[in-house]
Amino acid sequence: MLRIVVCVSGGGTNLQAIMDAIDEGRITNTEILAVISNNERARALERARSHGIRSLCISPRSYPDRETFNRAFTDRMTELAPDMVVLAGFLVRIPPQMVHAFSNRIVNIHPSLIPSFCGVGYYGLKVHEKALERGVKVTGATVHFVNEGMDEGPIIAQKPVMVEQDDTPESLQRRVMEEAEWVLLPRVIDDIANGRLEIRGDHVYHR
Ligand code: GRF
Repeated sequence: MLRIVVCVSGGGTNLQAIMDAIDEGRITNTEILAVISNNERARALERARSHGIRSLCISPRSYPDRETFNRAFTDRMTELAPDMVVLAGFLVRIPPQMVHAFSNRIVNIHPSLIPSFCGVGYYGLKVHEKALERGVKVTGATVHFVNEGMDEGPIIAQKPVMVEQDDTPESLQRRVMEEAEWVLLPRVIDDIANGRLEIRGDHVYHR
């Protein structure tokens, strides 16, 4: 059984996609131990609670400085002892000590085809604004392992989405979520839960 903790900051549609996939058997062999948010008002926490899943709020704002938050967040995650940490729309930098403690056991969904439109400052709608500004014809989503960099860890899976001529950042974000994120993240979790992934150095292979 793959025991996961899902970290969220906002609407929680990726969390919902994971919960639905577990309920519908598209993800097997997996249990969500808890959902953690840095934002106590995140709709994602309501989604977890209404699904009977333990929800916690751990916010940098509750700590005197980032180092103290990093230690508290990492200690809490260590106590929960998941096999895998899933970042589903989580907007807080993962503490270096957590990256080390959960090496190649933290996955993140990013709403572009990394290495395009990623890194510091590229999150949420901003990613799609930049993609439209650049005039790309194809964008998509990426699931990757988290390392100490920002959106730089080994790429696990990607799914392309065509950009349409009349797209706005909002319409493009919606289509990337519907056609890519909500499909890709559950699929990767199911692959990990059923031993279908292999990491060799910085590359991930599908068995
Ligand atoms: C999504 O665009 C996701 O790609 C990004 O955060 C946004 C909100 O996701 N990481 P969610 O609805 O909170 O899952």
